[in-house]
Formats: sequence, C-alpha cells, structure tokens
Amino acid sequence: MEKILILDFGSQTTQLIGRRIREIGVYTDIIPCDTALTPSMLEEVKGIILSGSPESVYEENSPAPDKSVYTLGLPILGICYGLQRTMYDNGGDVISHSKKEYGRAKVVFEKEPILLHGVTNGFTSWMSHGDAIDEIAPGFEIAATTENGIPAVIKHAQKPIWGIQFHPEVTHCEFGNTILENFAIAICGCGKNWNVGAFLKSISEEIQTKVGKENVLLLISGGVDSTVVGALLLKILDPEQVHLMYIDTGLMRKYESDEVETSLKKLGATHLHHINARDRFLSALDGKSDPEEKRRIIGDMFITVQEAEVKKLNISHAFLAQGTLYTDLIESGKGVGKKAHVIKSHHNVRSPLVEEKRKAGLIIEPLSMLYKDEVRNLGRTLGVGENIIGRHPFPGPGLGVRILGEITPEKVKILQDADYLYIEELKKRGLYDQIWQAFSVLLPLRSVGVSGDMRRYGYILSLRAVVSHDGMTADVYPFPTQDLLEISSIITNSVREIGRVVYDISSKPPATIEWE
Ligand code: XMP
Repeated sequence: MEKILILDFGSQTTQLIGRRIREIGVYTDIIPCDTALTPSMLEEVKGIILSGSPESVYEENSPAPDKSVYTLGLPILGICYGLQRTMYDNGGDVISHSKKEYGRAKVVFEKEPILLHGVTNGFTSWMSHGDAIDEIAPGFEIAATTENGIPAVIKHAQKPIWGIQFHPEVTHCEFGNTILENFAIAICGCGKNWNVGAFLKSISEEIQTKVGKENVLLLISGGVDSTVVGALLLKILDPEQVHLMYIDTGLMRKYESDEVETSLKKLGATHLHHINARDRFLSALDGKSDPEEKRRIIGDMFITVQEAEVKKLNISHAFLAQGTLYTDLIESGKGVGKKAHVIKSHHNVRSPLVEEKRKAGLIIEPLSMLYKDEVRNLGRTLGVGENIIGRHPFPGPGLGVRILGEITPEKVKILQDADYLYIEELKKRGLYDQIWQAFSVLLPLRSVGVSGDMRRYGYILSLRAVVSHDGMTADVYPFPTQDLLEISSIITNSVREIGRVVYDISSKPPATIEWE
C-alpha cells in the first residue's frame, strides 16, 4: 500500500500527523527518526514527513535522521523541528529566538506556493517553538512568513523539499488539513486509497494465509478492541476455527457479561467459552485492602484462570489473536523512537501464554495498523453494535479498583447497581457520548443520614466523569448541575445502602482517572 512515512523526532503530536493524513485517505507509518532508510523500508513510500520535537537541533545528540533522507528524491515535509533539522543538516543556521512563538500566529505569503494552495493569505497557524531559522540553507527559499517576520514556510528552489514552522496537525491551525492534503496528494502524488474497505481486504488475505486451517484463540475483555478482533475473525475465517474466551471476574459492570455474550453470538461465535471465575477472584481478594496488592492478586488470578481454562480447550497449536492498536506500539525509554509493546491491560502483559505464543510465531494482531477511530469504523462495518463501539474504557481489574479498600460481594453488588443507574442516566440525558469516561467509586466510609425519622449510616459513592483524548491527561467533565442533582437523588432513592453521593472534581494530573 502506498504511504507517507513519518519520522518521529519525539513530538507529542506525531501521532496526530499520522491520523490526520489517514483521514485524508492516505496510509501513514510512523518510525523512529533515526531508522536506516533502506530500500525495503522505502517500498511504496511516496513522501516523508519529519515531525516536531521538544529538542533543539544545535544541541549535542539532538535526534537526527538518516542523512540519505535529503537525497532520496522523495518529497519531504519538515514540521517545526523537522524544518529546523532540514535547514541545519543542509547548511543553514537555527538559533534560540528572542521572539518565541506559542499559539496562534498569522502567516502571509506573496505568491501562493503549491503547499498552500486553497489556503487564505493571512491564515492563523499554530506555533509552538522557541528556536527559529536564522539563516536558511543554500538552495532553499522563503515561501511565507509570520507576522513577526519569521520564516513560516520554506521550500527548496528545485527539489520537492518543504518545511513549515507551524503545526498543521493541530486543530487550532486553520487550513491544517488542506496543507497536509496538498503535501500528500499534490506534492507526493498519493491517491486517496486508504479506507476501511481497503484495509479489510488486505488484512483478510493476510490472516487467511497465515492461519490456514488452524484454530485461533482470542481473549475477550468486553471492550471495543477485542470485540472488533472477534468480529473480524468470525467474518474472515470459518467460525469453527475461532475460539473466544471471556473470563468473568465478577468485577464487571452490571449485565456486562451477558451483553458481551449476546453480541458475540450475534456476530456468529460458535465456540464462546464464557468462564465464570467470580468465586475464584472474590475469595483471592477476601480481606485485602492494599490497592497494589489487590491489582497484583487480580492480575495473577487472571493468568491462573486463563492457563487452566486454555489447557482444557485442547487447542495447543492455536494462534493467539490480540487487539493491539497502532498507538499501543509506542516509544519506550527516554531515547527517541524505539517501538515497543506497551503495557495495555493487565491481562495481555506478563502473560506466559502471550510470551509462549510470541516465541512460537503464533500471535496475530490484526488491528496493529489502526488508530482507535479506525477500529471503531471497522467495527461498525463488521456489524458490532454501537453499545460496544461507543463504550467508555474500562480498566482490566474492573470494579476491583473502584471499590476502595476491602472488596466484598455485597459491595460489588452495591457498586454495580449504582453505576448502572448513573450510566443509564447519562445515556438517557444524551451526555454519555460527550464524556471520555464516567464511572462510580464506592468509598470505604459510611456517613450519617436520615431516612424517615431514623438516623442511618450509608456508604458514600463518588461519581467521576472526565474528558480526555487518550487517558494520559484528563479534565473534569463540567456537569450540568441539574443533571448531577437528579442523578444523585435517583441513586440514593434506589440503592438503599448509599447514603451520600459526591462528585469528583479532580483533573489528571494531579489525580489519576481511577481511584486505585
Ligand atoms: P489512570 O487511572 O491511570 O487511568 O489515570 C488511565 C486510563 O487507563 C485505564 N486503566 C487501566 N486499563 N488496565 C487497563 O486495561 C489497568 O490496570 C488500568 N488502570 C487504569 C483507566 O480506566 C483510564 O482509562
């Protein structure tokens, strides 16, 4: 598949560049900035983007690309640091500038360059840089400047090498998508060939060839990713080959396990192994209140149950499918750019099963080229219900990290009942889809209240609702007060054990999204 290659110099918005270009319909691949640009690496590459970076080019050991990048004859677009890198590597000069530019800046040009075709002269760009070009490299020319007179767009006089000082991938940048489209389509000559249908076709052939008549095992968590992998496997393989295992820890949301089972059966699952491990989890957690210990116990029990149950299936040569996404393959460590499998959830890390299958070359990760929005689109195409596609993220240890302190079956039931009411109300009021993640937390405290003429002690329930892009940072959802008041009263009227409802108004950082 033809693509644009993005060299990642460590900017926070590198992934965004990839997503924006894919939205235009062109496939993108992000690789560490110092990757050797071998012929096999460059197969089907139509253009290269050099990303931004928090570093400065003039500093020792600043991240640099394979120098051949400038002589390959492929179109290049340097963004911010990528532009400064291009200047520096080709004989120009970059300095720390006294007029640092952060935020909006107007960009003006005399003659419209092809990169800015269709862009209004004087458009508002989005800047985030402390360094600026002091001297452009020989052979290059300034195509547009900011109001401060700083070069905003630079191009090579003959070669298709471009650089921009602003960030077109950020939504605040006017005409950002037009500029990226001009680069990908007009300058690199890509077609708009990347879409769910094209992906489905190529991944189907790849998986069918790899798997042949073998069995495939998939651990289902109930979330979007594993369900979409399940739907995909059931569509492109014989359902008899597909073994789906769902481990019910007893710490799932109310009715969740039934919903998972129903939706997978609807998608054609014949071998659905629904393991009820509630008692095993709850007895292992009995009397434990330390958050880390609880997490460890849940993680270990997951592996114990998984191993025992997989053995019973008698499909030892089966492939193991995982719902790893493109963004799960991210940089590790401090150095820019080593791709690594990152910890995604407690049950697909450290798992001996995953390690064993990986060693044997029996892992398939059909979503590893996709971003979350693309997975959702694929899911819709495959007939996965909106109740699953739009579902808020749920942590691997489930309600285990939302019942603070000791976990008892009684508390699980109280939290399930209260949280169900909360979430249903959000859906009814059209608020659910405005929120990244909403849930309830049961505190290990009771407070006094009155019911009739009686004083009674009820549990305290904290409601949480946050908005976020990726869960790394989060803001509190600014709840309409009336909704909050009504939801509180619905919960205390229906769940007798809860005497008081509070709303968590902490952002991340300093708080985390979950409470334990
Ligand atoms: P925190 O609480 O760290 O959560 O701000 C960030 C996001 O990660 C989810 N989360 C988990 N997901 N296994 C998971 O699969 C876990 O152990 C886990 N802990 C937190 C959390 O729900 C939020 O979306």
